[in-house]
Amino acid sequence: MPCTVTVDANGAFLTLSDNMAGELRFHAIWLRDNALDPKTRAPGNGQRLITIGDIPADTSISNAAVEADGLTVTFAPEGKTVSFPIAWLEAHAYDRNQHHELGWTAEGIETWDATQSAPSYDWEAVTTSSLTKRDWLGDVARLGFAKLTNGPVEEGALLNVAEQFGFVRETNYGRFFEVRTEVNPTNLAYTGLGLQAHTDNPYRDPVPSLQILYCLENSAEGGDSIVVDGFRAAERLRDANPEGFALLAGYPARFEYKGSDGVCLQSRRPMIELSPDGQLIGIRFNNRSSAPFVDIPFDKMAAYYAAYRQLGEFIDDPAMGVAFKLEPGESFIVDNTRVMHARNGYSGEGSRWLQGCYADKDGLLSTLAVLSNLQDAAE
Ligand code: FE2
Repeated sequence: MPCTVTVDANGAFLTLSDNMAGELRFHAIWLRDNALDPKTRAPGNGQRLITIGDIPADTSISNAAVEADGLTVTFAPEGKTVSFPIAWLEAHAYDRNQHHELGWTAEGIETWDATQSAPSYDWEAVTTSSLTKRDWLGDVARLGFAKLTNGPVEEGALLNVAEQFGFVRETNYGRFFEVRTEVNPTNLAYTGLGLQAHTDNPYRDPVPSLQILYCLENSAEGGDSIVVDGFRAAERLRDANPEGFALLAGYPARFEYKGSDGVCLQSRRPMIELSPDGQLIGIRFNNRSSAPFVDIPFDKMAAYYAAYRQLGEFIDDPAMGVAFKLEPGESFIVDNTRVMHARNGYSGEGSRWLQGCYADKDGLLSTLAVLSNLQDAAE
């Protein structure tokens, strides 16, 4: 069934009716800005060639018709005619219910608790099959973490993990850093400290959005790695204490690191970060690098702290964490804007040696999109 188009009396918008998508309205200014012709969009790189100021403020639709190649629209006062494929308009429609629950998550994000099994991929398969690489990166995008097994037991091998999808983010800790504690076998009283689940480096702005932790030795007893979905913890707080959720999202916390010479990193960002339309986009949670909170009004500070405590209780809840012990040559990636990582205490003989590095999610998501498009084209 072909679709039909009508234009409102002033030419301010048109309405496309089609059996599949129902009625979709598009404004004249929106259509003109998004014209797909080569004078508006560069044919090679797809970048827009005009600015908003190049479009007359009184732009209206003087004619619109559905033809074989899609919707043809003529704009006044320019007298310019362009065409849009119907499928393109349907894919970019904005005339839909835009209401979201506060703390909603983007399409494709799945939140989880301790019942989630850790997604695990084989080094050889990831580095030789673009399909497996797509699935591996897809799990990091969807769940915020994934393991990689059977990698080389070599110093610096973690850089190779980052190179599979993007670039290492070098920081004051170097291109990568050591997470190593020798357990003294002559002193059984010594206990490796556990670390509460946290996101790394909240004192940076922007934070490193991915972390890779790569195991080279792990013969100590204990020392399991634990990951916790910060988005699920935030959802639990929202459902249990909406006012507390709004406080943690609505006021900036402060984070700071000045533990080594020549470094003084400071940030002023919320523990729960929302987009302007309420989407959950980031968690910052780290007791060791929290600075005094000074941006919360006096009459809200007690409730802010109560919400902070409650969020911490959800994060510490054993029903939330997924634990696994890394063997040499195994690693995992975490989305550091969402998934927290923790370490159980460890004791006894043996040693634990991990290397860590940071990378960023934009490169990972870009590689994932390219691999997904290639795969779609092949199918
Ligand atoms: Fe950490």
